Amino acid sequence: MNNRSRAKLISSEFLYKQFISPILARDEGIDAEQLTQITLKSLSQASLYRSFPGISHALAHLANELKHENKKLEQRLLGCHFKNPIGLAAGFDKNGIAASIWDKFGFGFAELGTVTWHPQSGNPKPRLFRLAEEKAALNRLGFNNDGAMTMKKTLERQKILPCGNRPCVIGINFGKSKKTSLSQAADDYASSLELLSSFADYAVINVSSPNTPGLRQLQDAQQLRRLIKRLRRLPACPPLLVKIAPDLSNDQVDGLAQVAFQEGLAGIIAVNTSLNRLGLEDRVIPQTGRILRDEEGGLSGRPLCGRALEIIRRLRKSAGQSLPLIGVGGIDSPQNAWERITAGASLIQVYTGWIFQGPSLVPNILEGLEYQLNRHGFHNISEAIGSEAPWI
Ligand SMILES: Cc1cc2nc3c(=O)[nH]c(=O)nc-3n(C[C@H](O)[C@H](O)[C@H](O)COP(=O)(O)O)c2cc1C
Repeated sequence: MNNRSRAKLISSEFLYKQFISPILARDEGIDAEQLTQITLKSLSQASLYRSFPGISHALAHLANELKHENKKLEQRLLGCHFKNPIGLAAGFDKNGIAASIWDKFGFGFAELGTVTWHPQSGNPKPRLFRLAEEKAALNRLGFNNDGAMTMKKTLERQKILPCGNRPCVIGINFGKSKKTSLSQAADDYASSLELLSSFADYAVINVSSPNTPGLRQLQDAQQLRRLIKRLRRLPACPPLLVKIAPDLSNDQVDGLAQVAFQEGLAGIIAVNTSLNRLGLEDRVIPQTGRILRDEEGGLSGRPLCGRALEIIRRLRKSAGQSLPLIGVGGIDSPQNAWERITAGASLIQVYTGWIFQGPSLVPNILEGLEYQLNRHGFHNISEAIGSEAPWI
C-alpha cells in the first residue's frame, strides 16, 4: 500500500462514509442525540489536549485534509478577519467544548451556544430525530446547556486565543433561560453576555428558537429594540447580531430589517429551525409513531432551504447592501451555498447538512465557491454577495 492510499484510508471522509453514514442512513438505530454526545466528548478531549503529540498530529492531519485556503474567500466583516465564509451554526457546540479546534474542520467561524444564564437540562428525551431520507432533522432540545458560568470556565480551560488572534472567528449565541420570565429576559441575556463578552468576536441574540415557550415574542419590534438597547449598554459589548425564525411573514422580516438598521445591529442571522412542516406534515417519526404535524420541535435541513433563501433575498432588499447577513438553513451543497451568497448572505452556516454529508462538506463548498468566483471573474467573495450571479 503506497502513502497516498494509506492517507486516503485514514481520511476523515473515508472514516465518516464507512462508519457514520450507515448510521445516518436510517431514522432509527443509534439515537441522534447520543451520537452527537459521543462525538462531542471526543472533540472536547481533543480540544483540551490539543498540544499532546498524538492529538496534535491527528488534528494537523485533519486540518491538512479539510482546509481550503484562497485569498478570494477571505473577508473582513464584523471587525474580524474571516478566512472563508463557512461557519458552524449554533446548537452543535452548545457549551463551547471544542472552541479551540473548529478551524481544523476547515471552518472560517464557529458559533457556540445557545448558552443561557441558568444551566438547564432541556426537554424530556427523545428530543432529536433524524429524517434520513429527507436529509432533515426535528429537534426540541430546549436550550439544554451547562449555563454561562460553566461556558466561561470551559473556554478558559481550553486557553483559546484572544479575540482577533484566532484562526477561526468565534461567535457566541445567547438565549433566555426557561425559568426567567419574558419581562426579565433582557437582564437574563445581559448577565450571560457580560460574563462571556471577552470571548466573543460577535454575539447573537437568539429570539427565534421554537423550543423555549414565548421566546419568539421577543422578535416583536418593540421588545427587540428594548433588548438591544439593554445589551448595548454593557461595557465592551461585541458586535451584536439577531437570529430570526423562518416562520415570520415577509412584512415581519422587513420590520426586523428596519429595527436592525435603526438600532445599528451588526447583522442578522437567518434562519433558525421551523415550526412549519414544509411538506412533511404526514411524515411518521418511527420512534414515537406520530406524524410530524403532531410533533413539537423545529425542523432543519434540506426542506428549509427554499424559505431560508427567500428570507435572505428579502432581507438583502429591505436591509440594504451594507448590513452583513448570515445565511443558514438547508445548505448542503456548493450550489445552494453559492445561491445563498448571491442572494445576499455575506457568510453562511451549516448544521444538518454537515451532519449528513460529513466534514468534507466544508472543503467541497469552498472549492465550488472558488470555481464560481473564477467563472464569473470575481476577485473576491464580497463581489458575489447579493449579485444574483447564477451557478454556472
Ligand atoms: C439539533 C439542533 C440543535 C440546534 N440548537 C440551536 C441552538 O441552540 N441555538 C440556535 O440558535 N440554533 C440552533 N439550531 C438551529 C441551527 O443553528 C440552524 O439555524 C438550523 O438548524 C438551520 O440550519 P440547517 O438546516 O443547516 O441545520 C439547532 C439545530 C439543530 C438541528
